[in-house]
Amino acid sequence: MARSRLIVANWKLNPTTLAEAKRLALAAKAASAKAKKVQVVLCPPAVYLATLLTAPGKLLFGAQDTFTEFEGAFTGEISPLQLRDLGVKYVIVGHSERRKRGDTLEVIAAKTRAVLKTNLAPIICIGEDKRDGDGDYLEGLVRELEFILDKVPRQAAKRIVLAYEPRWAIGALATGADTPEQFLHHAIFLRKTLVNLFGKEIGMSLPILYGGSVNVKNADSFLTVGQADGLLIGRESLQIKNLVEIIKLAAKAV
Ligand code: PGA
Repeated sequence: MARSRLIVANWKLNPTTLAEAKRLALAAKAASAKAKKVQVVLCPPAVYLATLLTAPGKLLFGAQDTFTEFEGAFTGEISPLQLRDLGVKYVIVGHSERRKRGDTLEVIAAKTRAVLKTNLAPIICIGEDKRDGDGDYLEGLVRELEFILDKVPRQAAKRIVLAYEPRWAIGALATGADTPEQFLHHAIFLRKTLVNLFGKEIGMSLPILYGGSVNVKNADSFLTVGQADGLLIGRESLQIKNLVEIIKLAAKAV
């Protein structure tokens, strides 16, 4: 039986009009309605969430970021409580583009806790800047994950989604995607850490997604050869025909 897959579309600072966001969401909604065993999660800019959430169909929605506090004098921030109230289910945390804009590991850990406390699911992004031949960077990823997930209770941990995204593979300046074989290797390593932290039952059940230069050509191999539980897709998720194609591929991947 096919496992269910999570296809997460991170639109970043796009599109620039609500009309275009609606058009993209409608196409994703139609594709998602037909795709069995696939959960599509759209993460549009936060200003579009309330409108897009009025007719979600089978789609779920995620925010691209949130704040560590729930309410108060924090100009410009968005509270996890406000996201939950709109019907948002997921929040991306620790994305490399947020880290570049100042999110430290402490902030990422605090945001993860705030998201979990609100009963939302964090999509925690983790990945190395560069690789060394000795594999020391893998130890670095494990330490980072242990720091972010420190003191997260088991009950809350059940909602965690991990996205392994090597940073050199993300965005317009990327030097290319990882290989599905490498992804599988890294996912096994990260899975061991999750099992150590939360026990076998929970650790084995948490989805580990691949992200970084996913496109319509390589998506299938990450889901099949790489055995990814899903994909976190940036640029290609705005090429709506290609996103629809990837949703169909995910429904077929075993
Ligand atoms: P990309 O972005 O697919 O454009 O490389 C990935 C991401 O933002 O996580």
